[in-house]
Amino acid sequence: MHITRLKSQQPVTPYAPSWDAPLGFAQWDQKDKIDTIRNFLIGKEEEVLKLPWQGQGRTGLDEDKVTTRYGRYHVFDFADECPELKDLLEFIRFQWAEFIFQDKTQPYHLHFTCWYNILRKGDKIDTHRHCAGESTYLSANMHLDDYKDSSTVYEHMEMAVSLPNVKGGLTFFPGYVEHFVPVYEGEEPRVSLAMDIYLYMPPYFGCLEHLEHRTFIDPEKFFKKPDLKKEHDSDNNTEYFKL
Ligand SMILES: [Fe+2]
Repeated sequence: MHITRLKSQQPVTPYAPSWDAPLGFAQWDQKDKIDTIRNFLIGKEEEVLKLPWQGQGRTGLDEDKVTTRYGRYHVFDFADECPELKDLLEFIRFQWAEFIFQDKTQPYHLHFTCWYNILRKGDKIDTHRHCAGESTYLSANMHLDDYKDSSTVYEHMEMAVSLPNVKGGLTFFPGYVEHFVPVYEGEEPRVSLAMDIYLYMPPYFGCLEHLEHRTFIDPEKFFKKPDLKKEHDSDNNTEYFKL
C-alpha cells in the first residue's frame, strides 16, 4: 500500500484553506483471477442493465451503463457464481487495513456497497464525488486490465493527480475527493469496480438506506484484538466512534 496525499501548505492567513486527502494505491497480482472476474462482469452486463435505473451520480453516464444501476446490486453478491470475487474481497480488506494503519486512523465497523463500470471507446466519466456529508469515509476503485489509454484523475482544491488504470490497481480515496475519467480511446471494454465504504451507525444509515450494502469490516472479528473487543462490548455507540 502506497499513500500519496493531496495536501495544502500551512495556511498563513485565517482565510487560507487547509486540506489533507490521502490516496492509497495497491495492486492485486492474481492476473488469472482478475481475468475471470472481468469476463464474468462483462457477461453479467445485460442482466444488470435490466435492473431499475438508480441515477447518474453526476458521472454523465446514460442508462446503457451498469454504473447507473449502482446500489441496485452488490458485486460481491455474485461470489457464488464467480468465487474469485471472495479472494478479491479478502485482498481489498487487507489493503484497507494497511491503509488505515499507515494513515493512523482507527478501525470502525463498516458496511459497503460495490458496483462496476464498463466504458467503451468514446465514453468518459464526468467529474463527480461520492459523498461529502458528515459521515464521509472512504471510497475505492479497481481496474480489471491494463488500460494503457486510460487514467483516473483525482482532484481536490485545484490540486490533482492522474493515476494510470493498471490491472488489479486498487485506489482508496476519501469520498469527498472529486475524480473523472477522460475520454476512453481503447478498443477493449474498460471494466472497473467502484466501492463506497460507510460507517455502520444504527439506527442512522444516511445515504445507505436505498443502496444494497453488506458488512465490509467487523473490526472485532477482523483484527481479533482484545482491546478492540473490549471497546465493542460496550453498548455505547459513541465510544465506538471516539477518535
Ligand atoms: Fe466515482
